[in-house]
Amino acid sequence: MIVVVNFSNRKHGNCYSIAGTVKKHYGDKKVKIFNFIDETFKSCGNCEYECFTSKCSINDGLKELFKSILQSEETIFIIPNYYDYPSSNFFLFNERCHGFMHNNEELHKRYLEVPKKFMVVSSTNVINFKTACAYHIPHGTIPAILFFNARKFHQCSIDGNLMQNSDAVELVNNFLSTDYTREESAMAIVLCQNTVLATIEEVYDKATLSLPKGHIEEGEKPIDAAIRECFEETNEIITPKNFVEELKPFDIVFVNYCNKLIKKTIYPLVFKIDKPGDIKSKEERIKKVAYLPIGEFLKKCSYENVKTMIIEAISK
Ligand SMILES: Cc1cc2nc3c(=O)[nH]c(=O)nc-3n(C[C@H](O)[C@H](O)[C@H](O)COP(=O)(O)O)c2cc1C
Repeated sequence: MIVVVNFSNRKHGNCYSIAGTVKKHYGDKKVKIFNFIDETFKSCGNCEYECFTSKCSINDGLKELFKSILQSEETIFIIPNYYDYPSSNFFLFNERCHGFMHNNEELHKRYLEVPKKFMVVSSTNVINFKTACAYHIPHGTIPAILFFNARKFHQCSIDGNLMQNSDAVELVNNFLSTDYTREESAMAIVLCQNTVLATIEEVYDKATLSLPKGHIEEGEKPIDAAIRECFEETNEIITPKNFVEELKPFDIVFVNYCNKLIKKTIYPLVFKIDKPGDIKSKEERIKKVAYLPIGEFLKKCSYENVKTMIIEAISK
């Protein structure tokens, strides 16, 4: 099932007709559309902030929408620009959903990993949308956003007739059918006593604590890629004898530096060694490598899903 969320406050505007185009695009496939204008979702408040201590006390249909997103194979957000920011419906959705996930890292991880695409009707701003959408995908990845600048179609977005323009419709169809560039990556979770081998990488100019990982080459097995990448990035030598198990692979969708839409499957593999080797950073992108106590790693790691995997790995 594909879920479409229309954050507009106008019944039959551009976002509504873009949602219709999305539905048409998928033909017989089940597409569930949530139009905020038809709902009576409440913003956060009129409560004692129970989400911080137990669970959200607001009973409206938003949980239903949240569950549908979790069950979807892909979710598409359609967001209008209201004074250079996403409409307030988007912020309502953001605060309420984070309220559901507040005490549940596993749920947060599942939510972030649902593949998502964003369509934004905006002629005047890009950056605020990139920032806001990034909260809905795994940390360190760039959201896949299609911006509709009505002026480029010689239209005024207030008129609400963007989808009467065949070029704009084609843009939607192309965006939805753009074949993702598929990538596969192997991740080595190397445990040594009560420590884990960690890397500090530069991801989009930000220091990010993660694990050794990298591209699986054509014909290469995930285990061989994990062993190779681990050596290439950290100089640590692990062998198939150190292999413990493979954890469940997961997908992430994002836009890379060249504006390409990427769907990356990550294969996490657990290894155990008795004593650390002569580790050092061997790639420019990696600023530091270290065996960190697991507690410290969990506190500092930038990726929720990686933290969850470490917890799973040490629980075996
Ligand atoms: C209150 C309000 C503020 C808006 N501010 C902007 C803006 O700053 N930049 C922009 O490009 N469009 C702006 N728009 C235009 C809307 O983004 C555009 O009309 C969009 O199509 C609205 O979605 P809808 O057609 O589904 O209602 C604004 C519209 C409204 C109602």
